[in-house]
Amino acid sequence: MARKAPQPERADFVVVANRLPVDRVVLPDGTVDWRTSPGGLVTALEPVMHGQDGAWVGWHGAPDETLEPFTDDGLKLVPVPLSTQEVEEYYEGFSNATLWPLYHDGVAFPEFHREWWDAYLTVNRRFAEAAAGIADDGATVWVQDYQLQLVPQMLRERRPDLRIGFFLHIPFPPTELFLQLPWRREIVAGLLGADLIGFQLPGGAQNFLRLARGQLRMDTKGDTVRLPDGRTARARAYPISIDARAFEEMAGTPEVVQRAEQIHADLGHPKTVFLGVDRLDYTKGIKQRIRAFGELIAEGALDPEDAAFVQVATPSRERVEEYKLLRDEIDRLVGQINGDTGRIGRPPITYLHSSFPREEMAALYTTADIMVVTPLRDGMNLVAKEFVACRRDGDGALVLSEFAGAAKELKQAYLVNPYDINGLKASMMEAASAPEAERKRRMRAMRKQVFENDIDRWADRFLTDLKQADPTAEADQTG
Ligand code: ADP
Ligand code: G6P
Repeated sequence: MARKAPQPERADFVVVANRLPVDRVVLPDGTVDWRTSPGGLVTALEPVMHGQDGAWVGWHGAPDETLEPFTDDGLKLVPVPLSTQEVEEYYEGFSNATLWPLYHDGVAFPEFHREWWDAYLTVNRRFAEAAAGIADDGATVWVQDYQLQLVPQMLRERRPDLRIGFFLHIPFPPTELFLQLPWRREIVAGLLGADLIGFQLPGGAQNFLRLARGQLRMDTKGDTVRLPDGRTARARAYPISIDARAFEEMAGTPEVVQRAEQIHADLGHPKTVFLGVDRLDYTKGIKQRIRAFGELIAEGALDPEDAAFVQVATPSRERVEEYKLLRDEIDRLVGQINGDTGRIGRPPITYLHSSFPREEMAALYTTADIMVVTPLRDGMNLVAKEFVACRRDGDGALVLSEFAGAAKELKQAYLVNPYDINGLKASMMEAASAPEAERKRRMRAMRKQVFENDIDRWADRFLTDLKQADPTAEADQTG
């Protein structure tokens, strides 16, 4: 990818996220390449930013490198450096071994370390300074996700003229869990630096409002918090989405259509293709779905001649202990199922531990008959929406965990409790044997939902509400 150098001027619209949309990778021969960063945050925000004349402040994915701001594809990117120790303590530690498991219902054990918190403070301050440096007078700054929850307050202290929004891409936990955090008051206060705090679901906003009252003794009325400095902050739900039209178009290109046919042929034209697509993360319920499929094969409910499972898993947070354990467990489970039930040329499970271009994702979504999305907890899950958007044929079934935010919107999916393996098996079989008319009826309703509530609508709703906030106004003391 071509990069152009010069220092970007100040911007009127600034997104601040732990990651830039592109990652800097040094290849074995020493050359530098830039790749799309992993995860749903970047998938969702990239199209929003390409429609705006804005700047994106974030880390470029490699430690111990200070890079100058640059322009990529018309977008101003402002890299924030992290040292090796900060990657360990702020990113792998506090963000991904404390907050990530805690906010996902404690599906893994959160670790609490005071040095990690110190690094979180230091790095959040650095992001706030970078944002303060690039934001024009009276600009709008939109801070993203759990890695940067202190930035709104830190930024407001430095730049009271700014309009500040915050969006949390992951679930906001029940108060009982959140209260385990030794730094719970600091986090609530950090978020309250924003004028508008967005969550995926109304429950998250309610949990947050309860904490603002209980922990910081703030007055709240409806979704509004009244702060001692006279400001107000609102907490509301904005379920995130995707650029549905772009995915649909991509799925319709001759290259993707042909690739989808090729994948089907390479699998040996099975009657039913099941598909899983995730970052390799313990919240995604990958083990549960593979176990369910393995049992269906072992019991003879599915015949490996007829049914194939394709699981693609992007490597993720590979130095964090829980992720290493998960990788080993999945390797073992897949090996065991293929070893026990496979035949020559027909391993029931095709498992690919790697990241692919979006076109390949679109081809996989097109090839699949049944998309299996079974997180134990997920803020939204964009994979489910991408699958739906790519189904130009109006066919295909979605098996979806009721613990994904997407289940609140995609109600015509086959909803499952991923902890209930028998229930999961029954739903996978029900989806596999559903009449075409039934599959199409469900898919039609889901496509309507995804296309009507796409990423533009999400961004519009958030930014319109944020515009109504006047950061400099005294709160109405009478209401
Ligand atoms: P999360 O943000 O937790 O990773 P989401 O489902 O919301 O979960 O978003 C995941 C994003 O990453 C989607 O845009 C999906 O297409 C992409 N993705 C997942 N697995 C892969 C893969 N193996 N290769 C390329 N992209 C992937
Ligand atoms: C989720 C998080 C994002 C994160 C992404 C990828 O989508 O909400 O904030 O960027 O996962 O994870 P990573 O740790 O690789 O940035």
